Amino acid sequence: MSEDLVGKVAIVTGGASGIGDATCRLLARHGASVVVADIQDDLGARVAREIGPLAWFHKLDVAVEAEWEALLAAVLARHGRLDILVNNAGISGGTNSVEDFTVELWDRTHAINLDGVFLGCKHAIGAMKTTSVRKPEGGGAIVNISSIAGLIGSAGPFAYTASKGAVRLLTKSVAAWCAQERNGIRCNSVHPGGIDTPIFNPLWQMVGHEAGKNFIGSRHPIGHMGEPGDIAEAVLYLASDRSKFVTGSELVADGGITSGVQRRTLFAAP
Ligand SMILES: NC(=O)c1ccc[n+]([C@@H]2O[C@H](COP(=O)([O-])OP(=O)(O)OC[C@H]3O[C@@H](n4cnc5c(N)ncnc54)[C@H](O)[C@@H]3O)[C@@H](O)[C@H]2O)c1
Repeated sequence: MSEDLVGKVAIVTGGASGIGDATCRLLARHGASVVVADIQDDLGARVAREIGPLAWFHKLDVAVEAEWEALLAAVLARHGRLDILVNNAGISGGTNSVEDFTVELWDRTHAINLDGVFLGCKHAIGAMKTTSVRKPEGGGAIVNISSIAGLIGSAGPFAYTASKGAVRLLTKSVAAWCAQERNGIRCNSVHPGGIDTPIFNPLWQMVGHEAGKNFIGSRHPIGHMGEPGDIAEAVLYLASDRSKFVTGSELVADGGITSGVQRRTLFAAP
């Protein structure tokens, strides 16, 4: 295991479950101090406990600006610096179509998936800037978890797709701003395909975990769903100095699903 992140401090939102859980564990294995930030107290505290002394849990609702302010104050009081923010918290927002969607669900989905990322970037940049003056390497890394739903449209999870598409360009705009400011902060997005996490629990409850997993996996050219650790590895690259020339980019980790129409789909006999 490399020690790429030794001495660095990372916040991972939605760190109590799925991709966030795997990311917290991987960043800590590479030496980072990790703040597991989530609305789920019990699960978040357990992830931090299992990681050990490098991790601690902080309750955060990403949609509430005052909670971001409190989190950043706590991180700076404890560590005196912030190097990495992974804006991972998100909800599926339901599978309704544009015609069925309620304004309430639209607003809630955007409050978490989009406003939460905006607020994280806004407050992390401030914290990274003020703490980076004490760091010889300067700057920091922000990684925003979008989705393949941020790259291609879909009839189904309507507000989710809109919110994830917005995260893609929010990321590039934050990257452009930070580059212009020469503050050494990079910002990139990750676009996972189907990853086996509790976000699919409603589907697993309907059709069973194995059947659901096989069905979604069969939609991926690679033939199976991804694991949370697959996305954590992508985050690790963008969070570490190995990607020091990479900013405003989008890293797709989707088992090939956005690479093109599958040959067997296109040419299959009817
Ligand atoms: N699993 C997939 O197939 C997939 C694909 C593409 C993108 N993503 C994205 O990856 C991210 C992580 O999703 P996951 O699949 O690990 O799902 P998950 O449900 O396992 O984890 C999401 C976490 O976000 C937390 N969360 C929700 N609302 C929050 C809030 N207001 N404030 C703080 N935390 C909150 C939850 O408590 C949970 O711990 C999400 O942004 C999701 O949209 C997932």
